[in-house]
Amino acid sequence: MLVVVRENYDAVSRKGAELVASRIRQKPDIVLGLATGSTPLGLYKELIRLYKNDGLDFSKVVTFNLDEYVGLPPEHDQSYHYFMRENFFKQININPSNIYVPLGMFGDIKITSFETDPKIVQLCEWYEGEIKKYGGIDMQVLGIGVNGHIAFNEPGSSLGSRTRIKTLTEETVKDNSRFFKSVNEVPHYAVTMGVGTIMEAKELLLLANGAEKADALKSAIEGPITAMCPASALQLHRRAIILADKQAAAKLSAEFVTYG
Ligand code: PGA
Repeated sequence: MLVVVRENYDAVSRKGAELVASRIRQKPDIVLGLATGSTPLGLYKELIRLYKNDGLDFSKVVTFNLDEYVGLPPEHDQSYHYFMRENFFKQININPSNIYVPLGMFGDIKITSFETDPKIVQLCEWYEGEIKKYGGIDMQVLGIGVNGHIAFNEPGSSLGSRTRIKTLTEETVKDNSRFFKSVNEVPHYAVTMGVGTIMEAKELLLLANGAEKADALKSAIEGPITAMCPASALQLHRRAIILADKQAAAKLSAEFVTYG
């Protein structure tokens, strides 16, 4: 793992965008895995700037997003479809047919049928199949939850898991309520790529900022590999870059870390 620490959020975002942009320049038809949440917003802003000012070309780029809330239609302002459209896609020259975000609408399905309902199984298998059709994800951008989750793979998620529906922990529901009018509006389920799906990406770029991520980041990098901290699976990946600001990196053992 390459752990790179930068002074603050802006510097992390700039470095993250620089890495993503360099991969796009090397391979214009790159398959990018993308994340939502507050962490990657700065990275998207910087990539938009590079598109506008430096001619960074997204016309051949293909993207797969990690996850989506179950029950929110794509036009809902808290859906991840909406988030990606507003914060990134509509501001760059990406071809809309190259954009993949899992759909979280399955109608009225009971929790007990989540693993067997044909509509859900079909959508999850289709998503995995589309990733494969493009030859797999070249670089996957990730955030990390306060509880160590990646995408919506909450603690306890199998490290070999594939795209499926997960129940969100109370902690995640509470953390994400800051984006909703009230905690009661936060969905309790999400369709998410699995840890196994994420681990098949050729390169991983995990971003973390803020003191509230320091414990999760330490567990992910220096703790045991365990389903109780899904981000710890990154220790098994051959090309994982962790990009953190000083606050998120505060609990890491200094000798493993590259500053600059
Ligand atoms: P955040 O979420 O970027 O909004 O902190 C990260 C995550 O939960 O994966």
